[in-house]
Amino acid sequence: MAKVIASSSQLDFSLSELESMPLPEKVLLVKPTYFTVEYVINPHMEGHIGDVDKLAAQNEWDHLKSAYDELGYYTHVVEGQRGYPDMVFCANQSFPNITKDGKKQVIMSVMHARERQGEVPFIRKVYEESSYEILYLDESKFNSFEGMGDALWHHKKRLIWGGYGFRTSKEVYEPISDLFDTPVIALELTDERFYHLDTCLCILDEATALIYPKAFTDEGIELIESIFENVIEASKYEAEKLFACNATCPDGKNVFIQQGCVDVNHKLKEAGFKVHEYSTYEFLKSGGSVFCMKMLLW
Ligand code: ARG
Repeated sequence: MAKVIASSSQLDFSLSELESMPLPEKVLLVKPTYFTVEYVINPHMEGHIGDVDKLAAQNEWDHLKSAYDELGYYTHVVEGQRGYPDMVFCANQSFPNITKDGKKQVIMSVMHARERQGEVPFIRKVYEESSYEILYLDESKFNSFEGMGDALWHHKKRLIWGGYGFRTSKEVYEPISDLFDTPVIALELTDERFYHLDTCLCILDEATALIYPKAFTDEGIELIESIFENVIEASKYEAEKLFACNATCPDGKNVFIQQGCVDVNHKLKEAGFKVHEYSTYEFLKSGGSVFCMKMLLW
C-alpha cells in the first residue's frame, strides 16, 4: 500500500484499515550548551542574532526534560556540539521507524541549510549506538529532507504525514514511503513562517489534530479533515508567535506546549487533553519550540 497521496481523491483507505504501531517510549534530547542564534535560516530568527539568554535557555530545556522524566519516559541525553547552535532541535536530523516485526530503522536527513548539515553525523552515531538500522536515500533524486520537522507519524498508525515546500522536497516522500512500506500523505506548506510541518500540524491522538489552517493549501486542509475526526484550529497569534502547533502529545493524553496559548489550551482541555505549559521563549527566537526540541524513539 506504500505510496504518496497528494489529494483526497487519491485516498483509498480509512484509518481503521491501517496497521497499528507502538508508541515510542524513549526521548532523545540534545543539550543546549551551544544553542544560540548565529545565522538566519527562517523568518523567526531575524533580529535575534546574539540575543539568546544562555542561562534562561538551559533553564527552559532542563524544565522540559523533567516533563518527560515525570511522564515516565526514558530520556537519552546527548551533548551538543560547538559550531552547531541548532543541534538542540533534534527532531530535524532523522526520521525513525519501527517495522511490523519490531525492527528499528532510521532515515537520516539531508539538511536544507549548509549551517546545519554537519549536525547529522552526530545524531547518526546515536542511532548506530542504539542498534538502529540506518537507511539511505538517493540524494540525486531530491534536494533536502529535514526529518521529523516535516515527516510526522500518525498516532499509533502506519501512516506518515509529509510536509514539503521550504525545508523538504516533495520528491523525497516516494523513497520514504517505499523504505518504510507506509503510505505518505503529502502536504504542501504555503507560508514561510510555518516552514516545517511541525509548526502547523500537531497530531494529538488517532482522531485529533491541532493545526494552523492558513499554512496549508485547500487540498491539504481537505486531506487533514478527511483523516482526523476532530481538527482544532490555532489562531494566527498563538500559532505564529507562540508556536502552539509545535506542541507534542507523546501519549495521546498529555500535551506539552509553549506557555500562554490560552485559546488553544482551552480547546485542548475541552477535547479531553491534559495541558502542561512550558516556557521555550529562548528557543522561539530560533523558530523552534517543544515538538522540535526532542525526538521520540522506540
Ligand atoms: N533554527 C532552526 C532552523 O531553522 C529551528 C528548527 C526548528 N525545528 C522544527 N522542526 N520546527 O532550522
